[in-house]
Amino acid sequence: MRKLIIANWKMNPQNYAEAEQLLAAVLGGVKRIRGVTVVFCPPFVWLTDFSHKMRPVSFGAQDVFWELAGAYTGEVSLSMLQTSRVSHVIVGHSERRRWLGETDEMVRRKVAAVLAAGLTAILCVGEESREQDNVSAVLEQQLVAALGGLAKASLARLVVAYEPVWAIGTGEADSSSNALSAAITIRKVIRDRFDQKVAQSVPVLYGGSVSSENIVSFLSEEGIDGALVGGASLRASEFIELVRRAAAVSRSQGRLKLPVSTPRPPGRTAGWKKGTGVQPVA
Ligand code: PGA
Repeated sequence: MRKLIIANWKMNPQNYAEAEQLLAAVLGGVKRIRGVTVVFCPPFVWLTDFSHKMRPVSFGAQDVFWELAGAYTGEVSLSMLQTSRVSHVIVGHSERRRWLGETDEMVRRKVAAVLAAGLTAILCVGEESREQDNVSAVLEQQLVAALGGLAKASLARLVVAYEPVWAIGTGEADSSSNALSAAITIRKVIRDRFDQKVAQSVPVLYGGSVSSENIVSFLSEEGIDGALVGGASLRASEFIELVRRAAAVSRSQGRLKLPVSTPRPPGRTAGWKKGTGVQPVA
């Protein structure tokens, strides 16, 4: 699976000039890097301007409202995002749950609305404290609440980000093995509610103090498909290096692990073994 890196700028930077400069610097550094998808999530106030100026770049919103239009002061609708060329929406980030009182029911409505509009929902789930011993139960509860009532087909545009709250913005990332266990739990819950195929195809990201130093350890775990990056996405050189390393992992995994169902490449049969799961580079 092509690795997905989401740059969540949160409520930063504080003025347009800095935001534009940051985006231009990062784009200059990542434009030639292949094998990874980067989605930028700047604050709403600059989203339309950036998305129209920077055409081939993918943009995401940090939030959305579930109603389609109407008297909802301060809110932003899905059609507004669509006309702003937004492809992804972060939903249920722990900072919104914590500071804005976003409940599981609100998260459920938002996920359903985003998927119904044909955009990709990046659903954030994760436990509060490092000492918590019921991580699987927390993840299951949040996922079941957020995905309630959805049809299997709509999950084609779902991404789940495992973000342990204690690791966000603290400089203390989780271990890659814990993140992998969480990703396995997330897929099990999706499998039990939907099916194995859907569970395998939903990308699962890790988020929480991701940096250029630790990105390789997370992405090297098969089953972690990318990262949701906060602080490190605000420093151009750091983020460019992070993307470069993510792309290197992506390319090396792509070489080794083409899917089992890879069709026999025409005219290139040497070393190709049906159904082994490991194929030569096509
Ligand atoms: P962080 O934030 O990388 O600064 O820890 C991640 C997030 O909140 O998505």
